[in-house]
Amino acid sequence: MNLGGPDMAPQTPQRSAREAVARRDPILTVSELQTHFFSFGGTRVVRAVDRVSFTLHEGETLGLVGESGSGKTTTCLSIVGLLPRAARTVGGSVVFEGEDLTRKSQRELRRIRGRRIAVILQDPMASLNPLFTIFRQVAEPAFFHQQLRGRTLRERVQHLLRAVRIPSPEWRMREYPHQMSGGMRQRIVGAIALAGGPRVVIADEPTTNLDVTIQAQYLDLLKDIQRETGVALIFVTHNLGIVAKMCDRVAVMYAGKIIEQAPVRELFDDPKHPYTRALLGSVPKLARFIRAARKRCHAA
Ligand SMILES: Nc1ncnc2c1ncn2[C@@H]1O[C@H](COP(=O)(O)OP(=O)(O)OP(=O)(O)O)[C@@H](O)[C@H]1O
Ligand SMILES: [Mg+2]
Repeated sequence: MNLGGPDMAPQTPQRSAREAVARRDPILTVSELQTHFFSFGGTRVVRAVDRVSFTLHEGETLGLVGESGSGKTTTCLSIVGLLPRAARTVGGSVVFEGEDLTRKSQRELRRIRGRRIAVILQDPMASLNPLFTIFRQVAEPAFFHQQLRGRTLRERVQHLLRAVRIPSPEWRMREYPHQMSGGMRQRIVGAIALAGGPRVVIADEPTTNLDVTIQAQYLDLLKDIQRETGVALIFVTHNLGIVAKMCDRVAVMYAGKIIEQAPVRELFDDPKHPYTRALLGSVPKLARFIRAARKRCHAA
């Protein structure tokens, strides 16, 4: 008999699945991460990432949201050591599979990037080389990290292109990036990201340049791949609709800090921080908008 009260309520499958995930050790633990930009001569310092901490579990999607300039991209780039020249991680740790990535050399990080942790950036053209065929670019991680060659490599590339729903991969892989649509290019960047069989994918606004239908298809594709492979995702976006669709937990950044993080439902239902409330309040309420429009029609 259910005696009532929150503790006695039967657990929903989603809730128990989430709790099972939380009980396992995280794949990635970011603790007190600090990354600063230094001006020329070191006279000015921007604390782009200011003591950021979060964890990520297998198969989980963490949304990273916040206004422009709040430090989302710098957080992502700090994790994989891809910072621009002016920036340096000055404190904290990024523990991935038991090792602190902030202590690794660029050479060691290159072996981890692409194979164990993949990064998808906002502009697919920035990640693709216009001079190389799609085959060469998708094949690269499998060529270097898994030492695949010849027919096995060709089959692997076709398999990856098929996984991201590129039609006729046998001949599409001989083409160049400019021969593809924007949505296809973004999916090819996704195929490259998956080529090394990563455990974590960091996607920094991967759908901002796509129109809404292609965007929805791409998000569904990422979800399918996640279900099949158990890959964990860090998903940076400005779009709270995408957060609701994609993420299990969400971390809100403001001025280099994570000011609030919670399971998505909890954050949407009961935002604690005033900035989070303002962020949620800035989403147009469609139902309210339609009601107001109807009222205006009746009054006219
Ligand atoms: N190359 C740079 N030199 C100096 N400061 C920089 C540089 N790149 C970023 N910054 C600063 O670091 C802070 C964080 O920037 P970041 O790009 O991480 O923000 P973001 O949250 O990803 O923003 P957006 O939503 O616009 O992509 C900002 O204050 C920005 O001005
Ligand atoms: Mg950014």
